[in-house]
Amino acid sequence: MTDPLELLTDRLRLWVAGPDVATRMIAFHRDNDDHLRRWAPPSPPGWGSLDYWERKLAGNVDDAAAGRSLRLAIAWRDDDERRVLGTVALSDLLRGPLQQAHLGYSLAARAQGKGIMVEAVRAVATHAFDVMRLHRLSANYMPTNERSGRVLRRCGFVVVGYARDYLFIDGAWRDHVLTQLTDPQDRPPVSPG
Ligand SMILES: CC(C)(COP(=O)(O)OP(=O)(O)OC[C@H]1O[C@@H](n2cnc3c(N)ncnc32)[C@H](O)[C@@H]1OP(=O)(O)O)[C@@H](O)C(=O)NCCC(=O)NCCS
Repeated sequence: MTDPLELLTDRLRLWVAGPDVATRMIAFHRDNDDHLRRWAPPSPPGWGSLDYWERKLAGNVDDAAAGRSLRLAIAWRDDDERRVLGTVALSDLLRGPLQQAHLGYSLAARAQGKGIMVEAVRAVATHAFDVMRLHRLSANYMPTNERSGRVLRRCGFVVVGYARDYLFIDGAWRDHVLTQLTDPQDRPPVSPG
């Protein structure tokens, strides 16, 4: 790790992308709309516009600095242009005695099958436990999304339940498999709030 808001792995750079990345984020979503829409909630108003993404990414920077979330863009580590290959995010942070966050991710269709998301999730989990001092990550996937289930299993997430009609995805309420990864070290909370 070279910066609190940037994680480096063998092949990848994960960083809290600011408003300067808006056009690259638009390109990522435009190029992968068909691929991602089946697994994603409905898009908010203004989705796809420069204004939307500049405000959204500025908010992500603020939220990361305040410890409210960690929304990262993924690029090849050696890509000087930092073209966006995907995203990985920790959201819905709950502190106190729970110390939990929700994990979500998406990857460009053309970048699948190279182990990118496993590498990204492992880096984020290490950061979540060792730096953010969270205790548990939760991640949920539709039973038909076997690819996502394999990513989670390979990263050590275990199935903890099954939720009927859990999220509104691609026009309908969809069942989800619920999984969690707990900090392998038995550490007490450091955050009082
Ligand atoms: C789910 C998703 C993120 C998976 O991304 P991915 O990078 O292809 O997943 P992985 O990192 O596990 O790589 C998968 C394959 O790469 C292969 N691979 C190639 N090189 C590898 C390497 N160096 N290390 C590990 N795996 C490698 C693995 O064999 C693996 O194949 P398998 O799962 O069939 O065994 C991607 O399909 C996606 O964005 N889907 C749409 C959005 C989505 O589903 N989001 C999550 C909603 S819950």
